[in-house]
Amino acid sequence: MPFTTSLSDVTPESYTGPLLIALLPQGPLPSSLAALDAKTAGAIARAYASGDFTGKRDETVLAYPAAGPSRVLLVGVGKEPTRAALRRGAGVGAKRARLLGAPTAALACPAEARAVVPVGEAFQALAEGAAQGSWYFGEMKRPPEDPKPPFISLEILRGDADAALAARGHEVGAAIGAGQLLARGVQVLPPNVLTPSRLAEVAGELAARHGMPCTVLDRAGLEREGMGAILAVGVGSAEEPRFVALEYRGGTGAPVVLIGKGITFDTGGISIKPAQSMEDMKYDMSGAAAVLGAFEAFGRLRPKLNVIGLIPSAENMPSGTAYRPADVVKTHFGKTIEVVNTDAEGRLLLADALSWARKYQPAAVVDIATLTGAIGIALGQVAGGVMGNDPAFVQEVIAAGQRAHERVWELPLWDEYRELIKSDIADVKNSGGRLAGSITAGWFLKEFVEGYSWAHLDVAATAYTDREDAALVKGPTGIGVRLFAELVLARAGA
Ligand code: BES
Ligand code: MN
Ligand code: ZN
Repeated sequence: MPFTTSLSDVTPESYTGPLLIALLPQGPLPSSLAALDAKTAGAIARAYASGDFTGKRDETVLAYPAAGPSRVLLVGVGKEPTRAALRRGAGVGAKRARLLGAPTAALACPAEARAVVPVGEAFQALAEGAAQGSWYFGEMKRPPEDPKPPFISLEILRGDADAALAARGHEVGAAIGAGQLLARGVQVLPPNVLTPSRLAEVAGELAARHGMPCTVLDRAGLEREGMGAILAVGVGSAEEPRFVALEYRGGTGAPVVLIGKGITFDTGGISIKPAQSMEDMKYDMSGAAAVLGAFEAFGRLRPKLNVIGLIPSAENMPSGTAYRPADVVKTHFGKTIEVVNTDAEGRLLLADALSWARKYQPAAVVDIATLTGAIGIALGQVAGGVMGNDPAFVQEVIAAGQRAHERVWELPLWDEYRELIKSDIADVKNSGGRLAGSITAGWFLKEFVEGYSWAHLDVAATAYTDREDAALVKGPTGIGVRLFAELVLARAGA
């Protein structure tokens, strides 16, 4: 059953379900929870008095009061309860609820805990965070003897917040949360299940659910359209490549185009990767998943804007039919590429998609890709990289990432870097070597951009995590869904 949140007028002190989660700022017990404290015979005040709970970020205390809800979970959101802190607090609460085996719970976020955040943004963040925290993928495990019930729903208590603002914020956050869950559910699938053709089917199912037109090119279609770069990457695999174009029509003007890298597995091809962590390369379709997740949110929220989603997808395999280092490939754009490393395959897929995007005469184009290991060397798992051809648009994307707390940091596309991808035989080569690896990848993409504002997001180090934390399990993060939603909703004036 899919996880859902709802907004509720129940007060914390009258809630009697299995678990009440209370988000609390650092400092004294908020006076608005005095009634809950009284109802639970002082259980909350005692947690503070004992010193076990102070409201620090990620701090939790679980109490079993004699009256009121079966359990009360106090979650600290820290000194400055920002939008990101509330999102995280809701995530910590939801993850704990799932681990406790509570099928349902309620979340109280008293006014004191959201003092610095506008009401709509606060309730949006709570819904987003709760969805993220609830996520777990157990579908491929044999059912245990005594399964804990899944955590399926969370009531978010409105408290004294403005009803209309809270409702709208919650609606937006719930739709984005559903998009994030969809993205993570696609990211996590193993590469023998999520092939390029299956990825295209998932896009088709999403489109059908929301009444969106969806076009899929198979190998023959890619040949007909001259998509030589996508074809080259896919030619070594028994699985055919695909190219998906999703259309969301909510407005009248030029569309925003979102492009997501959809490599369902990246072995590196003939320039094969080492075995160590190669299994993580199932996440090389995380850009595609971000586009799908964003479209799930658009389908639910119907923003007044046109948005196109493009997903070039292939499996990068070594074989007797695979493309090889030294091959020269003719792209959809018309430029030729010298392949010097078959592991720099993502930029080939994106080259054809960026060229294709010109058809829509877009207002702006953003691509998102797990493109380079180098981006993790530059920025770690804290931020993604952004590059582009229009400073104002890059700033718009950075600001969307800031609101979403999916932060991106700009790297320069200075002319000097272009030298590194000069080819002796073709218009450009697909790798510039180790130095400035993320920038030369960005420069390569820029060669296929023409006539529109463009930003490139490199999320290779933020698309999945190998560290379990208080709010997030190991595995896919759904990166990009929130950023895309913020970008599009702001442009739509919503
Ligand atoms: N999919 C990888 C990038 C990647 C690396 C994603 C680590 C997630 C974690 C991409 O296709 C790739 O292999 N890039 C190469 C480029 C190089 C050959 C120029 C890289 O980063 O090493
Ligand atoms: Mn690669
Ligand atoms: Zn790749």
